[in-house]
Amino acid sequence: MKNFIINSPLDMHLHLRDDNMLKLVAPFTSKYFSGALIMPNLLPPITTKEALLKYKQRINDACKDDEFEPLVTIFFQVDYSYEFLKDIKDEIIAVKLYPFGVTTNSETGVSSMDVEVLRPTLESMSKLGIPVCVHGETQGFVMDREKEFLPIYESLAINFPNLKIIMEHISSKESINLLKKYDNLYATLTVHHLMLTFDDVAGGMLNPHVFCKPIVKRPEDKLALQELALNAHPKVMFGSDSAPHRKETKECNDGAAGIFSSSIAIQTLTQLFEEYGQLDNLNAFVSLNAQKIYGLKPIQKSIKLIKKDFVVPAEYTYKDECVVPLFANQTLSWSIDG
Ligand code: NCD
Ligand code: ZN
Repeated sequence: MKNFIINSPLDMHLHLRDDNMLKLVAPFTSKYFSGALIMPNLLPPITTKEALLKYKQRINDACKDDEFEPLVTIFFQVDYSYEFLKDIKDEIIAVKLYPFGVTTNSETGVSSMDVEVLRPTLESMSKLGIPVCVHGETQGFVMDREKEFLPIYESLAINFPNLKIIMEHISSKESINLLKKYDNLYATLTVHHLMLTFDDVAGGMLNPHVFCKPIVKRPEDKLALQELALNAHPKVMFGSDSAPHRKETKECNDGAAGIFSSSIAIQTLTQLFEEYGQLDNLNAFVSLNAQKIYGLKPIQKSIKLIKKDFVVPAEYTYKDECVVPLFANQTLSWSIDG
């Protein structure tokens, strides 16, 4: 196979940040993707309609003339009223729920994952048909945080049967069993959890650029996630969780969690799906499944992949911002045409 066409790709979990970082990273997505679900964990997080609409405008400005739809979200708060959610419903695709302190900019996340504490907000969302996207980790041992969160996902799935619950960036094989068990659970999968294990972070020389939450895990987790993606299981969709941080805040003590992958995501997925002879499922994984799960009609856009080496740049810069992409300086076997 020399060429491959992807129609209307969607990235259902993306961090675009703000200001010059937004201007630097947004075009990598808006040039090729039809749309992306944009995370609200700015500082301060997006919690009002006014802040949301202004942020959406800044995103559109950063995407210039690209045909691209930012699918924006707000940051879950336990005191969102039914009226507030009703009023904002048509502007958002989902609400993102962060437990307190589990990842970058989650200090204003929920302090209790008790179902009764969350019930009023989640019931309102359920009635209004607003999905909840969840960062499913506890504060336990780093490798087990997602596994420890599974009982919480299960109680949410049982207590809110009409609420669409998206298990964001699943990273462990245990999550897959639960995903399959409840009709109202769905999941996003990242490129890095499909391609890396903890050995890539710390098995040899330390690589801070592949440090993220949830941490990449064991080979058997990677294989189980690959099987789900390569078969384009209808409950999973692509969400890069591309989460850029300045180079100097990655290469330091207290390095930030988050991997910048939007510039290499499509090429890497094409390489992976080709390697396993599953290219026929790639369009479902990067677009059709998300369209069905979220009920989307994305902008029509076709991108052409060519079987040609792509040497990933060492870094990208704009004014005072500099980010290092996943697979910097490595060669991928597919390039995007144009
Ligand atoms: C994300 C970020 O930097 O905003 N970091 C990460 O490691 N994935 C937040 C998140 O999605 O957890
Ligand atoms: Zn994220």
